Amino acid sequence: MARRKKIYEGKAKILYEGPEPGTLVQYFKDDATAFNAEKKAVIEGKGVLNNRLSEFFMTGLQSIGVPTHFIKRLNMREQLVRQVEIIPLEVIVRNFAAGSMAKRLGMEEGAPLPRPIIEFSYKDDKLGDPLVPEEYIIAFGWASQQDLDDIVALALRVNDFMSGVMHGVGIKLVDFKIEIGRIWDNDFHRLVVADEISPDSCRLWDIESGQKLDKDVFRKDLGSLTDAYTEVARRLGVLPSNVTHRPRPTLIN
Ligand SMILES: Nc1ncnc2c1ncn2[C@@H]1O[C@H](COP(=O)(O)OP(=O)(O)O)[C@@H](O)[C@H]1O
Ligand SMILES: [Mg+2]
Repeated sequence: MARRKKIYEGKAKILYEGPEPGTLVQYFKDDATAFNAEKKAVIEGKGVLNNRLSEFFMTGLQSIGVPTHFIKRLNMREQLVRQVEIIPLEVIVRNFAAGSMAKRLGMEEGAPLPRPIIEFSYKDDKLGDPLVPEEYIIAFGWASQQDLDDIVALALRVNDFMSGVMHGVGIKLVDFKIEIGRIWDNDFHRLVVADEISPDSCRLWDIESGQKLDKDVFRKDLGSLTDAYTEVARRLGVLPSNVTHRPRPTLIN
């Protein structure tokens, strides 16, 4: 097989040129990074789980009319996506205080917010993805006011969908981050959800026990990340058959 052209290698994924113009292949790696890549590890099976979970969320979003870059999953670790012009923002939606917001405002982790709060950080690893006000985004031309209005509307639809799906399997969607891309059609563009939606980019807490089922397990050394992601996939019914996970002892009455 001819060698594919690698377009970009990031912290969690590799992008290859796709089979047709305007398409890309996204390869999900097992690499985990946190704290702006200060902490790194290879977590066996993570890429396979995130590929499946991102497919599940993106196809679900498409089925309720939210446009995404997703075309189809190709194999265990790869999916075909539409190539987009990524808006250099992390769009963060919060339902409960956690992480940097809890720290910044001295709030208790898990405190409910009066309404979903959307914030933007500028995607730049060297700068540590700094939080930016809308004023900067418009002044520096990263997105127009119209884009921003559309991004907020998209992000809230993603939030409602994700919150509902997660609630259905006993998981609280505390917060998440998405990336938005532009697809150009002559002089016009439309916005789509791009990149990935997975436990790497969400905070997911078990509703009953409060147990963390997301990348905080890795950030805070709370146990096996693969077990946590496998649990999310299992509850959603998207567990790939050949992901190895340690069988647990079962009690027989
Ligand atoms: N459909 C797409 N078209 C073009 N670029 C994309 C698309 N989806 C995601 N990307 C970009 O590809 C990269 C994915 O790799 P990742 O490992 O997440 O990178 P990073 O370390 O920059 O977060 C990100 O920079 C993301 O913005
Ligand atoms: Mg990324």
